[in-house]
Amino acid sequence: MTETMANKATSIDTTDTTRILMCAPHHYDVDYVINPWMEGNIHRSSRDQAETQWQKLHDVLKEYAVIELIEPKPGWPDMVFTANAGLILGDRVVLSRFFHEERQGEEPHFQKWFEDNGYTVYVLPKGLPFEGAGDALFDRGGGWLWAGYGFRSELDSHPYLAKWLDVEVLSLHLVDSRFYHLDTCFCPLQGGYLLYYPGAFDAYSNRLIEMRVPADKRIAIDEVDAVNFACNTVNIDRTVVMNKATESLKQRLDELGFTVIETPLTEFLKAGGAAKCLTLKMSEPRSIETQTSTVQSRVIHLEGHLLDSGLVNRALDTIVSGGGSFQVLSFDLGKQRQDSSVAEVKVIAPDVTVMDDIMGQLIDLGAASLPREAQPAELEPVVQNGVAPDDFYVTTIYPTEVLIGDRWIKVKGQRMDGAIALSQTDSGPVASCKLLRDLEIGESVVVGSRGIHTIRELASLKSKKADEFSFMGAGVSSERRVELVVEQIAWDLRRIRDRGGKVVVTAGPVVIHTGGSEHLKQLIRGGYVHALLGGNAIAVHDIEQAMLGTSLGMDMKRGVSVHGGHRHHLKAINTVRRHGSIAKTVEAGELTSGVMYECVKNNVPFSLAGSIRDDGPLPDTKMDLIEAQADYARLVEGADLILMLSTMLHSIGVGNMTPSGVKMVCVDINPAVVTKLSDRGSVESTGVVTDVGLFLSLLVHQLSKLTGQYAPVDVLN
Ligand code: ARG
Repeated sequence: MTETMANKATSIDTTDTTRILMCAPHHYDVDYVINPWMEGNIHRSSRDQAETQWQKLHDVLKEYAVIELIEPKPGWPDMVFTANAGLILGDRVVLSRFFHEERQGEEPHFQKWFEDNGYTVYVLPKGLPFEGAGDALFDRGGGWLWAGYGFRSELDSHPYLAKWLDVEVLSLHLVDSRFYHLDTCFCPLQGGYLLYYPGAFDAYSNRLIEMRVPADKRIAIDEVDAVNFACNTVNIDRTVVMNKATESLKQRLDELGFTVIETPLTEFLKAGGAAKCLTLKMSEPRSIETQTSTVQSRVIHLEGHLLDSGLVNRALDTIVSGGGSFQVLSFDLGKQRQDSSVAEVKVIAPDVTVMDDIMGQLIDLGAASLPREAQPAELEPVVQNGVAPDDFYVTTIYPTEVLIGDRWIKVKGQRMDGAIALSQTDSGPVASCKLLRDLEIGESVVVGSRGIHTIRELASLKSKKADEFSFMGAGVSSERRVELVVEQIAWDLRRIRDRGGKVVVTAGPVVIHTGGSEHLKQLIRGGYVHALLGGNAIAVHDIEQAMLGTSLGMDMKRGVSVHGGHRHHLKAINTVRRHGSIAKTVEAGELTSGVMYECVKNNVPFSLAGSIRDDGPLPDTKMDLIEAQADYARLVEGADLILMLSTMLHSIGVGNMTPSGVKMVCVDINPAVVTKLSDRGSVESTGVVTDVGLFLSLLVHQLSKLTGQYAPVDVLN
């Protein structure tokens, strides 16, 4: 206290003398757990040892700086960590607002000290956490402030810092809870150097650091040093004072001209702090250059069955994992189960690129700008055929509208992974979903994330309307649920057929290998399949099996390979080639059974897309893949349900060209494939992890039950 009193008149310092505020650990202890370091350490630190370690740090620092003291208060054990008192620049201080209740009682004590010592104290709005110099560090090269968020400080506090301290603020997203304060993993050093642990930050922040700090000034440390709090360093001129560092780090620092002083602070590590946390720098010998914050905020509007559909969770997760933060401004749940709910959420992002990224994803989830805030979509011209402007908005399967001028225009030809192209017609602007390769000079493309919204409500409403699709909700079924799912699919197939709807099947060769062709044949014959999509292989194996009884040389009845069987598929290909097409082979009476035969006989159109094997292809196979895609798209058009049977690439291709509202059932023995397809986030997609042959046999059996017949052949009519 005496030091404080003695220095009172000169305590506001703008000279080069370093002044530091510390607080003796007379009341220090680990009393609660508010960070991972404190776990298991409650009352495990020794007060005596803490006093000794703190005193030693104090004595070391006294050699290099003027130390001032604030009187410790009983009941506030973390008050020793003065870094968290506030953030000082010149005679201004932004007082901390602690995130955890456990530390909020320190605020008035620090505030009083700052006021008594002549500072102008800035107080953040209630409920907006910011933990002072623990989360905000001035760069020692440029004139800006690095500010952390993610655990303790709220991103939304950063614009206040920029305004009150007249400084550019660069926001860094902390993602590793062990490094919950910026000063635990980040330390700007004299001469523009930066000591930091990259693993504590997200990709965006690492990029930002690399953009601002040249490579030869970045001292990235390993986890060993990071967990010893090597970044929690007090740097005065060329001296760095820290708890502990590895030999290699000490050597690196030494080579750069820094003198490392280690002083053990193990007792404080138990509370998640070390040298830097125990100090608050009161003078910053630096020049201030700019005074901006790049922090962006926007308010979005979400409507629908927000809780039931998990939409709110997903939206908030999207914001946080995308590097932003949020504030829920309002949330109206509605009164009845069938009522939809409405939420307004403020989205905050460290800069415009991160904001656009987050907004893009939120739009995909169905979020919209507030009507009063909606801004027209941004457009950029196509300057090269087949190439979109850099920042183009990537479309989803959901119906989309764009705000052109003051009119919301519905986008035509909705599909995934396209761009929204705008062309002018006599009756006004027309927006359509286009593949990159189809973009033409003269069109404009929607870029960024303004003035775009997708309509998700219908889907979520539909799934809630009745329990009819209750196990058709997006999700991957485990084995024990397969039968239930099959019942549901059979029911759907039956109803779609009876009302004249359309079912498209994509199938891989595994369908034949697993003995599924018998069942697929029956589905085709029964009128349940209205288009078949696959590659060269499924047709070859099917025809080989029909003609020679083997699939890739395996006897399908006995399950053993047949002598000379490996030539069978070539013989099958050769026969079809002789006739010119699969249909002609059927006509000639040479192909008399199998899946392809049934397609020809029942007028079910099929499309075979490509082959990389050079032993074919069948004459029907389209080797021009762009043509094949167009053919697929034509056959998928108007589908009510797509049954995807063990073919990852053809299914993904089909999934992408299908708008929302089309049910998709993906069957594969590999859960990864199933997940990949259900990942498009559509409530209409169902994944079934099982053997496809088994699945088809269950399905056919179930369909026969629905028709009231149990005989195995021709029961499906
Ligand atoms: N136990 C304290 C907390 O969790 C430690 C604070 C460390 N301070 C710092 N600037 N990193 O808040």
